[in-house]
Amino acid sequence: MKLHHLMAMGTTLALSLPAAANPFPEADIATGGQTHAKQCIACHEQKFGGKDGSDIYIRTDRRVNTPGALTQQLTACTTMLNLDLFPEDEMHLAGYLNKHYYKFK
Ligand code: HEC
Repeated sequence: MKLHHLMAMGTTLALSLPAAANPFPEADIATGGQTHAKQCIACHEQKFGGKDGSDIYIRTDRRVNTPGALTQQLTACTTMLNLDLFPEDEMHLAGYLNKHYYKFK
C-alpha cells in the first residue's frame, strides 16, 4: 500500500473519534481494577515498585503514550502470561489504567 493511503486512513480514524472523548467509554473501571489487582500488580510492583506497582505506568520513559499503545502493551502482558482474557476484560483493564494513570482523553 502506498504511503499516502496509509496516511489517509490514519486521518479517517482520527476524525472518527469524537474530540476529547474517553477512549474506553465502555470500560467497567471497577471490574478492571479487580482484574488488575489479581493479575497485574504483583509482578509490576516487584520489577518497578510504586504504590500498587504503579511506577511502571508513570515512569518518565514509559512505553505507552497513546490509547492504542495502551491496548497493545496490555495485550503483550496478558499474552505473555497466557491469561486468555476476554476482549471485554482487556477493555476494562485499559479503562482502569487510563482513568488512574495514563489519563488519555
Ligand atoms: C510476570 C510479570 C508481569 C505481569 C504479571 C504483568 N506484567 Fe505488564 N509489564 C511487565 C513488564 C516487565 C513490563 C515492562 C516492559 C518493558 O518496559 O519493556 C510491563 C509493562 C506493562 C505496560 C506498559 C507500561 C508502560 O511502560 O507504559 C502495561 C500497560 C502493562 N504492563 C499491563 C499489564 C496488565 C494489564 C497486566 C495484568 C493483566 C500485566 N501487565 C501483568 C511484566 C508483567
